[in-house]
Amino acid sequence: MAASSRKIWKSPYDPDSIVGSGHARPPTLKEPNTVMIALRNVEKFFEHGPTKTFVLRRINVDIKEGEFISIMGPSGAGKSTLLHLLGMHDSAWTGEYTFFDQPIHKMNKKDRAELYKKYIGFVFQSYHLLDSLTVYENLDIPLSYRNIKKAERQSIVCDTLDRFNMVGKKDLFPNQLSGGQQQLVAIARAMVASPKLILADEPTGNLHSSQGKEIMELFKRLNEQGTTIIQVTHNEKNAEYSNRVIQIEDGWIAKN
Ligand SMILES: Nc1ncnc2c1ncn2[C@@H]1O[C@H](COP(=O)(O)OP(=O)(O)O)[C@@H](O)[C@H]1O
Ligand SMILES: [Mg+2]
Repeated sequence: MAASSRKIWKSPYDPDSIVGSGHARPPTLKEPNTVMIALRNVEKFFEHGPTKTFVLRRINVDIKEGEFISIMGPSGAGKSTLLHLLGMHDSAWTGEYTFFDQPIHKMNKKDRAELYKKYIGFVFQSYHLLDSLTVYENLDIPLSYRNIKKAERQSIVCDTLDRFNMVGKKDLFPNQLSGGQQQLVAIARAMVASPKLILADEPTGNLHSSQGKEIMELFKRLNEQGTTIIQVTHNEKNAEYSNRVIQIEDGWIAKN
């Protein structure tokens, strides 16, 4: 995508949006005091023979709905591990994780996957686009988990492609895109179904700085509309968009 002065995403909920009320889902109301995520004494380790290597140690965190959080820290500190745990992809850990009062630590894999589909959009550090599906089809997947009519799904995907300046790429497969383009599709996929929570692992790592700034502006706008955002970032400028920084070092929370 060429850097452009045009904004790459305008929410369908914006009053001046050309798609206006075409999308029937109401915006999430901001309830700043609702605890969305509570982690209690969460730990994760790997075992190599008799040796236990801890990757997360005694993690206690509360995250309220409507927050915009940056997770920062040195490489290997456990940032991606924590984000995947929050994203319910991982079950090999101990402690308690409560999501909107639901005990994730007691849930089976299937119920966790249902919650993930319902509430979470995830931008993977390595994108994880589905190679056998086109850009269009990749963007349609999160919508297919929602109870949305086909015509409306089409309109949301087309609108999203347009906002990301990727209409011309819609029939291409991920391996026909540059790394930066794949990252944009991964971001578009994470937000296309308007999830309550977006988890993003270094989401601008492969973008030009101007594109990275546009993505941060997009996250800011989504956050203002009530979306909770947790991003892993090395970039101080990106971190300035968040309202709180959680610093991780050697698996421990160093600053919260
Ligand atoms: N399968 C594994 N076995 C042992 N250690 C692992 C495994 N996977 C990840 N780790 C270790 O976990 C630590 C945290 O990794 P990660 O969460 O990816 O760090 P970050 O995202 O902060 O760079 C690293 O030290 C990494 O080597
Ligand atoms: Mg990482």
